[in-house]
Amino acid sequence: MDAEPATTLDVRPLTDRFGVEVRGIDLATCGPEMHRAVADVFHRHGILVVRDQNLTPEQQMEFSRAFGTPATNQRLEYTYPGIPEIYVISNKTKDGKKIGDVDAGQGWHTDGSYLAEPTSCTMLYAIEVPPEGSDTLMADLVAAWNELPPERQAQLEGLQIQHSWKALMELRGLPVDPRDDTVPDVIHPMIRSHPKDGRKALWVSTGTTRGIVGMPNPEGLNLLEELVAFVTQDRFVFRHKWQVGDVLIWDNRCTLHTGTKFDTTKYTRLVHRTWMKGDRPV
Ligand code: SIN
Repeated sequence: MDAEPATTLDVRPLTDRFGVEVRGIDLATCGPEMHRAVADVFHRHGILVVRDQNLTPEQQMEFSRAFGTPATNQRLEYTYPGIPEIYVISNKTKDGKKIGDVDAGQGWHTDGSYLAEPTSCTMLYAIEVPPEGSDTLMADLVAAWNELPPERQAQLEGLQIQHSWKALMELRGLPVDPRDDTVPDVIHPMIRSHPKDGRKALWVSTGTTRGIVGMPNPEGLNLLEELVAFVTQDRFVFRHKWQVGDVLIWDNRCTLHTGTKFDTTKYTRLVHRTWMKGDRPV
């Protein structure tokens, strides 16, 4: 990887392997040039955290634009009123109606892998946080790929995965929706190169996949499960423990992530998510 660009940002490692925290910055007021500097750092590190922020939905949108073009969501029920690019993750209700999706992102996955041009990165901004539970876990798919012996890498290189939005809806038990037909299954490479510097990631997931091209099931699905179990071992995983005001951004091109449960009868959680349009994986 190239040397870190010269920047006035205070950048600290999150783990000894991947991810950084940027400190001493107020994203609401620092302006687009600093936003772009943060995005430049982000593209090298897989995950980036900025704590103690206080952002309006419009300010989150402005910061998001430094990372790409914010995309809307396939299901619109829980988007923020007037801003369809912001998805509300919450167990809260207003006037007896749910204001958000409480189960978004449970289970290891990478966002938008079912799209022809999957979501490049995702940003969560925490407004209310339970005192326990709801950690977000992220796995480093570059480190996982680099740890495989060369002969295993040679076996996997060239394999392709069939990704499926409908498989995800089936998994979540959601009713069939005619809009789902606008998202046909897509084929993507299992080994993905990062567009910024070519680093390779073992880009596997379950839940949103139907199998491996040219490999019958259950072998294909079993291999995907085996690889997801490999990449999500503790040594590849960063666990984000939320505080109010946290902004967490992950790179879907080189990480897997999962939300975790919390006691919804005791606590409330309110998080605003944006995600950015991506490129066709190579
Ligand atoms: C997501 O995967 O979109 C959300 C994960 C989380 O809420 O922690």
